[in-house]
Amino acid sequence: MSVLYRTVDQVAVITLDLAPVNSLGLALRKAIRDAYESATADENIKAIVINSSQKVFCAGADITEFGTEQSFADPSLPSLCDLIEASAKPVVAAINGMALGGGLELALAADYRVAKTGAKLGLPEVNLGIIPGAGGTQRLPRLANVNVALDMITSGVPINTDKAVEAGLLDKVYGVETDEEFETVAIEYASTLADLNAPVLSCENLEVAADSYSDDTFSAYKAKIAKKTAGYYAPNRCVDSVEAATQLPLKEGLQREAEIFQDCADTPQARAQQHLFFAERAAGVIPGVDRKVPLRDIKKVAVIGAGTMGGGIAMNFANAGIPVTLLEIKKEFLDNGLAKVRQNYEISAKRGRLTEAQVEERMALFTGTTSYADLADVDLVIEAVFENLDVKKEVFTELDKVCKPGCILASNTSTLDVNEIAEATSRPEDVLGLHFFSPANVMKLLEVIRADKTADDALMTTLKLAKTIKKVPVVVGVCYGFVGNRMVAPYSREAFRVILEGATPEQSDLALTNFGMAMGAVSMGDMAGIDIGCMAAEANRETWEDDKTYQALQFNLKDLGRLGQKTGRGVYIYEGRDKHNDPEVLELAKAIATENNIEQRDVSEQEIVDRAILMLANEGAKILDEGIAYRSGDIDLVYIYGYGFPAYRGGPMQYADELGLDEVVKRLKHYQQSLGEYGERWFKPAPLLERLAAEGKPFKDFQKM
Ligand code: 3HC
Ligand code: NAI
Repeated sequence: MSVLYRTVDQVAVITLDLAPVNSLGLALRKAIRDAYESATADENIKAIVINSSQKVFCAGADITEFGTEQSFADPSLPSLCDLIEASAKPVVAAINGMALGGGLELALAADYRVAKTGAKLGLPEVNLGIIPGAGGTQRLPRLANVNVALDMITSGVPINTDKAVEAGLLDKVYGVETDEEFETVAIEYASTLADLNAPVLSCENLEVAADSYSDDTFSAYKAKIAKKTAGYYAPNRCVDSVEAATQLPLKEGLQREAEIFQDCADTPQARAQQHLFFAERAAGVIPGVDRKVPLRDIKKVAVIGAGTMGGGIAMNFANAGIPVTLLEIKKEFLDNGLAKVRQNYEISAKRGRLTEAQVEERMALFTGTTSYADLADVDLVIEAVFENLDVKKEVFTELDKVCKPGCILASNTSTLDVNEIAEATSRPEDVLGLHFFSPANVMKLLEVIRADKTADDALMTTLKLAKTIKKVPVVVGVCYGFVGNRMVAPYSREAFRVILEGATPEQSDLALTNFGMAMGAVSMGDMAGIDIGCMAAEANRETWEDDKTYQALQFNLKDLGRLGQKTGRGVYIYEGRDKHNDPEVLELAKAIATENNIEQRDVSEQEIVDRAILMLANEGAKILDEGIAYRSGDIDLVYIYGYGFPAYRGGPMQYADELGLDEVVKRLKHYQQSLGEYGERWFKPAPLLERLAAEGKPFKDFQKM
């Protein structure tokens, strides 16, 4: 049974009991309705308490039911909320933990709400590409006000009990220790309400506070959130639905909400965002690895190299309260690295994100050294020295000598073979890759590279640690560039190659930013440094095949000293934060095109998007087929959290699934033919892609192991 039902002193207690999060699937909805009907039918019952036996009160609708008949089956969530609201006996929702989405909507339909300290109330539906669909947009503005409703519903961020009391959403908050004590006080509260003949309440009799909005409130709110929500469909629809609460009686407002909910639920965006919700959770499941393997203790960390990456990597640990030792070759480099860390914290303090005391607390967790002997007692080392295999091997040989048994040895390499690095030690089972993204203290993605001999417990320990430092970890296998950088190579190639074919750099970037990418590939190249791209190309000439025409553009720019933003000129000319196309680069592109018999022409925005984005999916297909990534969702997470791919498109693999893999194959074949020799070389659909397309299956259903 998914509900426990008992009576205590004439109070019916309906306890949601569906592990792990009481998601409101059909079985739980039916069980709640049946228990509720028993309580209302029983003359001895004077009040009803709805509470939870789980850590959370309720996580809302069962997202796995979306798009199936079950989600509408009787009782639907909206009708269950209506039923509870119509109760003639007082209903108290006793919120012990998170009340999210439909879980909060259920509570809003009750007459009274009490919470345990630490509980949180939220309507995160917008993160799933939908709006609250069980009365949230109608009851919340009535019980609180328009502003609270707009903020909670469009941001999806839950509020704590203090805020909820202030907003009028909670009647009482109990500072009790246990859920048992909380249940006891909630029952007493319900009993007292009944004894005092406290009124049963219905939002039907409530109007939204007239002083909480005016004629332009809703359009002004849309303008306010426009930048943050650019490209997303659901946020504005949330605003529309809350506006309906100010214009329509409850029943009609609920009807309007249902229409808007359905309108959002039917979009590719909703499917994309829900795909990401499950992808994030699935990423913690590693084929062949026991999820419950005992983990290693990570109490002290060391980072080797205090350059661009090392300092940022170390900050993640200090931010989580974990002491971190930074090792450099020279005292001078160490001092510079630590000064940079301090500068970053000071900037945060200036922006009000940290207090001066917190800056000092964090700096106090840093120890600097130039001696490997100081790493004898650390539990994890992350190497972030130059991208050179010999240098890295030397570092790992040293680490092998000084680090204690069981210490996890990780490399932040972007492209090198982690198996080879592991072989420089006598303990390859303790070696793996932890590939942070720049700036390492900001970017959420962490590629965890599982080498051939990496021990399961070392791997799972880093996954847990990643959560502690607030990263999204994705486990990948060893290959050139792993998942992210390997895929970005053909993507960038296309974004640059179209410049040789006649597009301007701005057109190339704009096509991709209009698609939703945070930045175009050309600007990304200028930001990372044209010389860095050239260096990587040279270092990997033997492992990674690339196109000479696009590389000619890069190498020519480098030879001209146009290294990107850092030199004020790269593909673009930079004036402060502004950038412009440079006729000199267009001429250079033309000259390379002539030399290579590339005809210059108008390249459409659609073509640029197709070529760059479908290349991501095509390379992703090879990666999946090789078992470098376990699931297409893992690849999508890499792109969402590491490369600025728009979450509302769900990642490159989800984008391809949504397009239909047969359509993807069709478009790739079109370019394979239309781009002549170049097309023949680069646009052949990956075998897995062709196979799945022929079988009518999406990437999502493919699992190699
Ligand atoms: N539906 C289905 N499954 C859900 C779920 C939901 N609403 N919420 C969580 N789960 C599943 C997870 O997929 C996971 O499954 P797994 O173990 O098989 O991977 C399991 O429950 C545990 O979830 P977490 O790993 O996320 O557990 P945490 O303890 O870290 O977090 C939580 C708990 C904060 C409740 C988090 O799960 C969460 O944010 N859930 C989603 C909340 C949400 O978005 N609710 C809105 C739903 S839409 C809705 O209500 C529509 C309505 O308006 C009509
Ligand atoms: P960097 O050149 O800024 O810093 C490297 C630092 O390592 C220097 O300060 C150097 O003095 C130090 N160092 C070199 N040899 C050392 C040794 N034997 N012992 C101790 N310190 C030593 O380089 P960056 O950009 O920080 O890159 C470091 C690693 O991170 C590379 O493997 C790189 O591929 C990877 N990476 C870089 C990213 C970036 O955007 N810069 C992104 C992700 C990974």
